[in-house]
Amino acid sequence: CYLFCALTKCVECSSEASELADIEWDNLGFGLLPTDYMYMMKCSQGGNFSKGELQRFGNIELNPSAGVLNYGQGLFEGLKAYRKEDGNILLFRPEENALRMRQGAERMCMPAPTVDQFVEAVKETVLANKRWVPPPGKGSLYIRPLLMGSGAVLGLAPAPEYTFLIYVSPVGNYFKEGVAPINLIVEHELHRATPGGTGGVKTIGNYAAVLKAQSAAKAKGYSDVLYLDCVHKKYLEEVSSCNIFVVKGNVISTPAIKGTILPGITRKSIIDVARSQGFQVEERFVPVDELLDADEVFCTGTAVVVSPVGSITYKGKRVPYGVDGFGAVAQQLYSVLTRLQMGLIDDKMNWTVE
Ligand code: COI
Repeated sequence: CYLFCALTKCVECSSEASELADIEWDNLGFGLLPTDYMYMMKCSQGGNFSKGELQRFGNIELNPSAGVLNYGQGLFEGLKAYRKEDGNILLFRPEENALRMRQGAERMCMPAPTVDQFVEAVKETVLANKRWVPPPGKGSLYIRPLLMGSGAVLGLAPAPEYTFLIYVSPVGNYFKEGVAPINLIVEHELHRATPGGTGGVKTIGNYAAVLKAQSAAKAKGYSDVLYLDCVHKKYLEEVSSCNIFVVKGNVISTPAIKGTILPGITRKSIIDVARSQGFQVEERFVPVDELLDADEVFCTGTAVVVSPVGSITYKGKRVPYGVDGFGAVAQQLYSVLTRLQMGLIDDKMNWTVE
């Protein structure tokens, strides 16, 4: 029915229409709102993904001995679809997510969909759920591709079977602060990633590993945690769920991608947008001390987009930024990026896919 539900009211669609009507598009946060369909594709170890299919969104069945459950053999991605004023839907750089998943799969000993398979699967899933793409300016449809070792394996080894799955959910702002600045605390004891580890790929374990420090920070009233490198304990790495940028005058600095930092697609896009706007962008080791006299700090990520940082607490000292936390540079870059993503300005870089 997903192909025709806009034209003919099928039983399945009309039965869920009331749920859609219940959504407060102005108050979307970042939580799962179940939608109609998910995409599923399987392959064996050493094989290739061939043909996937859409199925109703719902629970999936896994052997208790599945590689992903026992040994964390899993990756995820995150990208968004935006509704344009003319009703069409735009994806933002989906092929970048496909490539990142392929790099991660290589690190995690998993087969991965080709870039074409990934992008086609994303398009099919979004179209099947198109009624859940928020109205223009009210949020986006968050797309969550997963790749996991779904086959049973008891001794430590790559799983014998893999599942690629995509589900979607309408979302609004990631942080409970909404568009307001977030408050971070620098973490000194716990680390997110180590050289030679998996910090540079989007494996599920990276995110489980940050929950302890994040929960402790939230309990103290902070929005999230800013991690330092684990060798020198003095260079910025990233926040639990996003990359970080430090602004001083016309120079915007961000930690270089050296294996311990997630190569964010929003990070990469913001670097290009900032350069096109006349800023000098430096990808390098950024000493934590530079936070003390920065003009402005902001975070980037698919979920957080561009989030201004209102303050960072470092060794017990709270350093505030911007005017009430809203930095002009973050606002300017946010505005350009989101207008591009929503099709409101000319997409000279060909980043969007309709
Ligand atoms: C994203 O920004 O898409 C992420 O994957 C971060 C996640 C923790 C929400």
